This record gives sequence, structure tokens and C-alpha cells, in this order.
Amino acid sequence: MKMYNNLYKKCFLELKHASSKIISKYKRELNSETPLGYLQFYNPLYYMLKKYLKILKNKKILEIGYGRPYFLKFLKSKKTLVYGIDIIKPIKIKGIKLIKVDIEKIPQDLIKEYKNNFDVIIARLIFSKEYQRKYNKFQNKNLILKNLNLLLKKKGKLILQDDKGTIFTKSEFRKANFKILIKQTKVQMDDIVTKEKNKIKNTIMVLEKTK
Ligand SMILES: C[S@@+](CC[C@H](N)C(=O)[O-])C[C@H]1O[C@@H](n2cnc3c(N)ncnc32)[C@H](O)[C@@H]1O
Repeated sequence: MKMYNNLYKKCFLELKHASSKIISKYKRELNSETPLGYLQFYNPLYYMLKKYLKILKNKKILEIGYGRPYFLKFLKSKKTLVYGIDIIKPIKIKGIKLIKVDIEKIPQDLIKEYKNNFDVIIARLIFSKEYQRKYNKFQNKNLILKNLNLLLKKKGKLILQDDKGTIFTKSEFRKANFKILIKQTKVQMDDIVTKEKNKIKNTIMVLEKTK
């Protein structure tokens, strides 16, 4: 937790007072195609990955509800093996496997194919209280966590970034054999559209598959 805050603070401060040298460092590091404002959304995830995976190369990472696949593109540039699931029509990107699947209705053959496969699963702004409030999604939370558990390797990590917190409860995580490594932590970010400071309040948490 302390480590996370320190790393995040360092990264956030660097970006806040970014000199052109630092901006170009992050642009190179994250993805030259990514608009700079988006970098702050990815910093926490990037540091989590570095902390828990150490070496990103050849690690298998799945993003649920990838939307615009900027972060997956960045991960690909780090030589990770990247996969994405979303209900939108996948675009073709070399080296990234995007699959059109509803996370609540993953077909059994897909589960079989990718069982115990991923080092990390990332979900950004999908299993969020705010998303749930707007769209009333995800009726079967236990099934979703069960599927995520099946797809992760032993000791695989689940990283959640959410708007107004996660929809899952502690007991739902426990029941699905997830241990909380970093409990839900608030992160504040500037709104890149309105330019308001600390406007966006997200949370981050990290879990580990226990069995
Ligand atoms: C609020 S957007 C977040 C997009 C992206 N993760 C980001 O942070 O910019 C939520 C995403 O979840 C996807 N989604 C919604 N319901 C889903 C489901 N049942 N299964 C898989 N993806 C879903 C949406 O299509 C959308 O891309």
C-alpha cells in the first residue's frame, strides 16, 4: 500500500511538473500514440505490473472491457503477450488478440482454451459502481469472478481500476478464491477534457488468485 502510494506519487508528480524531457520519457515508455493526458490513467497499472511481474517480457496479460486498446498497445511494445475481451467488434491489431465476448457469457470452449493461462487480468472502469449505476450491468458477479479465477494462472493477479469503487464485495472476492494484496485505494487525476484539477476519482486494487 505504502509502496503503491509512493510509486504513484512519484509518477504523478513527475507528470504534473513535467518538463519536456520527462514528457518524452513517458511518451516513449507508454506509447507514442497515446495522448499524454491518458498517461495518468495508466501509471498505477504500469507500476503494479512492474512490481508484481518484475519482467514484463513474455508475460500473458488479459484486459477485460479494453474499449480503446491504448494500454494493450503499450504492453505489446514491452513484449508481453496481450489479449483483450470486449463486447464491441474487435479491430485487427498485429500481435494483439482481441476477442468479442461477453464476460458474463464466456463460452466453455474459450474457458478451456485459456484456463490457468494469464499472469495478470486487468479491468479498467468496467466493474465500477458508476458503470453499474449507469447501465445496470453484471447481474452474476459470482460467475464473473469465477471465470476470472479460471483464466488466471496460480497466484495470478487481478488489477481493478474503478470509478467510485468496485462492484465486488470482500466476501465475493473471498468466495471466488481471491486474496486482497492492495486494498481499494483512492487515486485522483486531473480531467484532461475540462482541465479541472483532481476531478476524477478512481480506485485501484490488486488481488491474487489463491486456488
Ligand atoms: C467505461 S468503458 C471502459 C473502457 C476502457 N477499459 C477504458 O478504461 O477506457 C467499459 C468497457 O466495457 C465493455 N463491456 C461492457 N460490458 C461488457 C461485458 N459484459 N463483457 C465484456 N466487456 C464489456 C464496454 O464495451 C466498454 O468498452
